[in-house]
Amino acid sequence: MRSAKDFFRPLALGAPEPLREIPFRPSRMIHFFPASNPKMVAKLPELAPKVDVLLANLEDGVPATDKDAARQGLIDVGRNVDFGGTQFWTRVNSLDSPWGLDDIVAAVTEVGHRLDVIMIPKVEGAEDIHYVDRLVAQLEAKAKLERPILLHAILETARGVANVEEICAASPRMQGLSLGPADLAANRRMKTTRVGGGHPDYLVRQDPIDGDINSQRAIYQQDLWHYTIARMVDACQSNGIFAYYGPFGDIADVVACEDQFRNAYLLGCVGAWSLHPTQIEIARRVFSPDIADVRHARRVIAAMGDGTGAVMLDGKMEDDASVKQCRVMIELANELAARDPEVAALYATIEEN
Ligand code: GLV
Ligand code: MG
Repeated sequence: MRSAKDFFRPLALGAPEPLREIPFRPSRMIHFFPASNPKMVAKLPELAPKVDVLLANLEDGVPATDKDAARQGLIDVGRNVDFGGTQFWTRVNSLDSPWGLDDIVAAVTEVGHRLDVIMIPKVEGAEDIHYVDRLVAQLEAKAKLERPILLHAILETARGVANVEEICAASPRMQGLSLGPADLAANRRMKTTRVGGGHPDYLVRQDPIDGDINSQRAIYQQDLWHYTIARMVDACQSNGIFAYYGPFGDIADVVACEDQFRNAYLLGCVGAWSLHPTQIEIARRVFSPDIADVRHARRVIAAMGDGTGAVMLDGKMEDDASVKQCRVMIELANELAARDPEVAALYATIEEN
């Protein structure tokens, strides 16, 4: 085990110092684009101001025959596209693939000065992060980068979930985790064939009515991802990093997508992936605090004065703990308003009372 004293020392001579805290940057939607597709790349300047994160995807979804083109696309985008205040991330191929190493080398040495985060898929334990941590430090030193590139792991194997706490704590570079429901389902031998979302057969059923098991008993579909998201949120929060829901593959079902994103938001996630422009708006709506919540949170904070004790507001008890929840809401609202003029304009309509 490395001494705590060494934890913030660069892992290569000349590499930038690791950050001591991962800054919160709005990332309600991590918008995926295939870097090998020139048509999609041509749309990026128009898309950049509408999303919090643009991610050049090199991994799944890119055919094996296009892997080199996608890597080159990442380099071209990093050199030529103006991202403004939008973050630039990439998802590289997995560490056990024939492309992962070349992806990381290209990302850091060719466009490392523009890149904020490298997303590493199929992370199984701290050893994967340690490997990338050292490699990235060596490459940062070689490329003379002045700020460290952060790492984001996708949780998409059973072993990754079992090791989630050590993954989050493995390096000061760790920025966050995403749930990868499609790969995770396959790896766990779950009997689903979807990319994220629920399943109609995963349910609970009302007790028999008057003892008749064949009576009309209500059924309630359950969230397949509740356990994993909750674990992921606790692991991230206890390590000062951020949790994200991943992909929702049924692009046409905007209703269920919104529900899945909202469950993640309520449990503590800060964003989700958008795979299609329709999902950008959903993520913006869901991961920005609702205007009624912001209004209520401001009232509670005002009523609670120094934040201690208890008050009654609209028949409900508010105290030290509820005011803390309200502060979480207001901090997020302020951070998002500073980035997104539409959200700022919405919150500005709240009347103080
Ligand atoms: C994402 O990569 C997933 O496997 O769901
Ligand atoms: Mg995956």
